[in-house]
Amino acid sequence: MRYLLGTDVGTTGTKTVLFDESGNVIADETKEYPLIQPQNGWAEQNPHDWWDAVKSTIKNVVTKSGVDKKDIVSIGLSGQMHGLVMLDETNEVIRNAILWCDGRTTAQCRKIEDIIGKERLIEITANPALEGFTAGKILWVQENEPENYAKCKKILLPKDYIRYLLSGEFATEVSDASGTQLLDIPKRNWSEEVCKKLGIDLSLLPKVYESPEVTGYLKEDIAEELGLNAGIVIGGGGGDNACAAIGMGVCCKGKAFTTIGTSGVVFAHTDTPQIDKQGRIHTFCCAVPGCWHVMGVTQAAGLSLNWFRSQIASEYDYKELDKLSSEIPIGCDNLIYLPYLMGERSPILDTSARGVFFGLSAIHTKLHMARAVMEGVAYSLYDCLEVLKENSIEVGDMALCGGGAKSTFWREMFSDVYGVNIKTMQTSEGAVLGAALLGGCAAGVYSSVEEACEKTVKSGEIYEYNKSHHEKYMHFYSIYRTLYPALKESYKMF
Ligand code: XUL
Repeated sequence: MRYLLGTDVGTTGTKTVLFDESGNVIADETKEYPLIQPQNGWAEQNPHDWWDAVKSTIKNVVTKSGVDKKDIVSIGLSGQMHGLVMLDETNEVIRNAILWCDGRTTAQCRKIEDIIGKERLIEITANPALEGFTAGKILWVQENEPENYAKCKKILLPKDYIRYLLSGEFATEVSDASGTQLLDIPKRNWSEEVCKKLGIDLSLLPKVYESPEVTGYLKEDIAEELGLNAGIVIGGGGGDNACAAIGMGVCCKGKAFTTIGTSGVVFAHTDTPQIDKQGRIHTFCCAVPGCWHVMGVTQAAGLSLNWFRSQIASEYDYKELDKLSSEIPIGCDNLIYLPYLMGERSPILDTSARGVFFGLSAIHTKLHMARAVMEGVAYSLYDCLEVLKENSIEVGDMALCGGGAKSTFWREMFSDVYGVNIKTMQTSEGAVLGAALLGGCAAGVYSSVEEACEKTVKSGEIYEYNKSHHEKYMHFYSIYRTLYPALKESYKMF
């Protein structure tokens, strides 16, 4: 039996899992690290924290698994997308990484559109200039920290910085590179035109691979520290959403999933690069070579509930919140939550938006608010799903994953709000499993991504939606839809 390591460099922490080649979990380990918010709407992390977490989780997983290291054949990497890591000429980190949920780059995004032209930008990068994406962050450093930009010799995404430390290679792969706004999405390589116009030297960027390819081999000194054999394959892997797709078997047309992690995502596989002309959802290369995906992102999904519990309802644990708020009626006695704690990506594309409880009355309790938070997150992802449907993208087969999907109540709520049956998967490891499978493809354990999914991914329970609940939710969703347009201008007045 061969064994595959998967590591996901997430926003709350890094998770590493050792799987056997049938996709069974042998051992897992998570290590958390802080999110640094120097200003309202900014979000950074220290890349050294990721590296410490990757090393300690791999080391512990290998030790506690009891598996002979000669049978561990690959490492696959998944990671939070879009983050900007800059290295100097000695390959040292220059400044904290600026993350996907950082909204400081509105001016830079307008500049990118002015320089390249809105239409041309969408033609090449398949997306409008967005604050979350990497290009705006690079321009922000160019303008605001010229001394740091002058020192910069390499630009990497979070998991690709880890790849460099593991293998010594500067490499990325198409799915994560798609979120930089520097990739030619139809051609699956860096766009010379975009990079040149933005003053970003191509030599700063790593080589682009397909996700199931070999990108390097584990270095000897690191192998020794981690308890692994030197020279094992480091697979391309992917951005966390592209990896989650593989871990859930979403590798052909018609298949889709929703994830409730720190952010929330609605994701559908496509055979061609399908682009929403208004740019309300993203089009990226997916981890299956020659294919793409579209996705909508809610910036603060699990983050909303996490924030609510820790700041307002810390006397309850998640299980209690789940149980007690499920006893509150649909619509929370007329209370609606907008989950825009970190601004919002899809479909409103507005970093100045902020969270709202609408309709608060003296009858409302913390439990009404907790349920409203969960409903607001579901409405926000339903909003994205509506845009996918408007673009005639097939989403017949919908799976649910992420930390939030552990809640049965939230699962039922999603299927009722969406008005579709939702399935869970037997493993809750989505992104980590996907990363490990892509590593396994690179190591020759599987001959294709599709084969890897067939051999390992198993569906779990099906949640059938309740029509009358769907109708009730739709009443409150119709009110939810009126709130952002009414508040749009007010947000700008802060
Ligand atoms: C996707 C995105 C988030 C991060 C979270 O575009 O920004 O889903 O990848 O880890």
